[in-house]
Amino acid sequence: MKNFFYLIFFFASCVICKAQTQNIIMVNSDRPVTSIQPTMWGIFFEDINFAADGGIYAELVKNRSFEFARPLMGWKIMKPDTTTGVLIINRSETDPANPRYARITIAPGEPSFGLSNAGFRGMGIKKGMTYHFSVLARQLEGSTLKMHIELVNIQGKLIAATGLVPDSKDWKKYSVSFAADATELKARMNIWFEGNGSIDLDMISLFPDDTWKNRPEGLRSDLVQLLADLKPGFLRFPGGCIVEGRDLANRYQWKNTVGKIEDRHLIVNRWNTEFAHRLTPDYYQSFGMGFFEYFQLAEDIGTEPLPILNCGMACQFNTAEVVPLDQLDPYIQDALDLIEFANGPADSKWGKVRTGMGHPSPFNLKFIGVGNEQWGSQYIERYKAFVKAIKEKYPDIQIVTGTGPSPSGKDFDYASRELKKLNAQIVDEHYYANPEWFFQNATRYDNYDRNSYKIFAGEYAAQSKFTCSPDNQNNWKCALSEAAFMTGLERNAGVVYMCSYAPLFAHVDAWQWTPDLIWFDNLRSYGTPNYYVQKLFSNNKGTEVLPMLREDKPLTGQNGLFASAAYDKNSNEIILKLVNSDQKVQAADIVLKSSKKMGTKAKMIVLKSEDLSKVNSLEQPTLLSPVESEIVLKGKTVNQVLEPYSFSVIRIKVLH
Ligand code: AHR
Repeated sequence: MKNFFYLIFFFASCVICKAQTQNIIMVNSDRPVTSIQPTMWGIFFEDINFAADGGIYAELVKNRSFEFARPLMGWKIMKPDTTTGVLIINRSETDPANPRYARITIAPGEPSFGLSNAGFRGMGIKKGMTYHFSVLARQLEGSTLKMHIELVNIQGKLIAATGLVPDSKDWKKYSVSFAADATELKARMNIWFEGNGSIDLDMISLFPDDTWKNRPEGLRSDLVQLLADLKPGFLRFPGGCIVEGRDLANRYQWKNTVGKIEDRHLIVNRWNTEFAHRLTPDYYQSFGMGFFEYFQLAEDIGTEPLPILNCGMACQFNTAEVVPLDQLDPYIQDALDLIEFANGPADSKWGKVRTGMGHPSPFNLKFIGVGNEQWGSQYIERYKAFVKAIKEKYPDIQIVTGTGPSPSGKDFDYASRELKKLNAQIVDEHYYANPEWFFQNATRYDNYDRNSYKIFAGEYAAQSKFTCSPDNQNNWKCALSEAAFMTGLERNAGVVYMCSYAPLFAHVDAWQWTPDLIWFDNLRSYGTPNYYVQKLFSNNKGTEVLPMLREDKPLTGQNGLFASAAYDKNSNEIILKLVNSDQKVQAADIVLKSSKKMGTKAKMIVLKSEDLSKVNSLEQPTLLSPVESEIVLKGKTVNQVLEPYSFSVIRIKVLH
């Protein structure tokens, strides 16, 4: 009996010491502070870490048109000891966008010959799935070469096969579909040639059948689904530094990324050799994922497209080349033409290109970004020229500009001062910093001028080591610090209009930059804890900010607590977000001041781990993921225990 009392006493004291901090928090739902923009939480897409080629763009063949600097990179010649062979022919005079093709020759009496493609760190092949092979080909006079197409697993065992006999003397597209009878993460595609003669080949391609919306030659559906699940407010594309290029010759030029796929001029990907510790010499941009596809993706997932264009400046971390101001016109014209491509009537010059690609109706572009992460007076001069031309022709388009790579310092202050003078509309700020910075900066926007430009927090991510370290982890500490910081973004929705984590995607075998929101291999993908933080904010956005105060002050780290509150006019719900960054359990008594009745039950969604180093992985993709439960209100009070190191969202129905 005595022991029993000791036990009771022991448990009671544990509960008391665990929930030792009491927090009385007031939320006034009758007094919304400001609106929350529909664009508040979005996504930042850049072709880094194999995000486009080798990632969301479902093409399985690497270097399909032999345009890489080394034309046979990604290809292996099978039986090279014979005199038969492959010749790379360059016709740049007649076809500058797609100069190279391969000529395969087998002389009489010689054995068969083959080419084998490695894919993007292998090809992900699924048992029972249909694969669509296609090629542009022409037989030379008298040639009757047959093609045998095979998929083989990593041990070289056949897992799918089909055949094709091109019969035209002129370039023609041939297609054949076939099913795989095994699943393989790192398959290869072999093409064997049989017969005598010579055949010319270009755009050798293989796509799975299960693309997003079953669009032929489209996007990888699991990756698009992860984006759609975020319910993002905008899609920024195509970067990032990729917009700038290491030099101007390799800047991103949207006009080279639309129209027929074989006419899209491949260039090197600027992340190819950027980091000596993560060299990726086989990283190029085929532009299969081009501007049309980005607009279509935005439309598919119901979000605002936000293209960012080169402003006549190459990456200032690399060559820092600039175009002289008196030669900026073609760059500005690209911006004007892009607006016409997106929004112009079907019979306008660029509207016609869009229509020809299957989209006669406009994409309703509302925003355009001028330059990525530029700094200095050269940027301001070029920005001014863009604004003048864009606003003259398209006064309603909102222009996004930026303050450079750093969230403070001389260049930041200069840009911010100049952009204020110029009445900039939306200004992009970037922060890659340690988790402590994110916890400390939840108040960053509390004192920003409400009558000046609006903020696009366009690139942010907590770095567990340091920026550009290959050892950065997408761990819970980083994600929790971002959640704390994001309560500050939400609280300041009167000045912060758009936010996006960066970068978005990374292939586990081919990344250059970590941390990243979503990781994948050739078959699987998963969201990081950071992904779930983004998803919880975006899926529980609300339409108005509500005051949420402890001792008359916003929660910005007192007792390790960070919080924000919103009201959703569409669903009539109060949405509370609370981050407990402390190692102790905390009790929160949240008093809802409202003239309306409340539901007696509420939904609670919690993301938590007492282990701050916890990460998700391909093997355990949802180890750290939100858990939903129902909680009961006491009148208009939510008495809630906040677990150590947790992020909680509470949704309460307001009754009328
Ligand atoms: O997100 C990775 C890179 O970081 C982006 O390309 C660039 O804008 C920033 O410096």
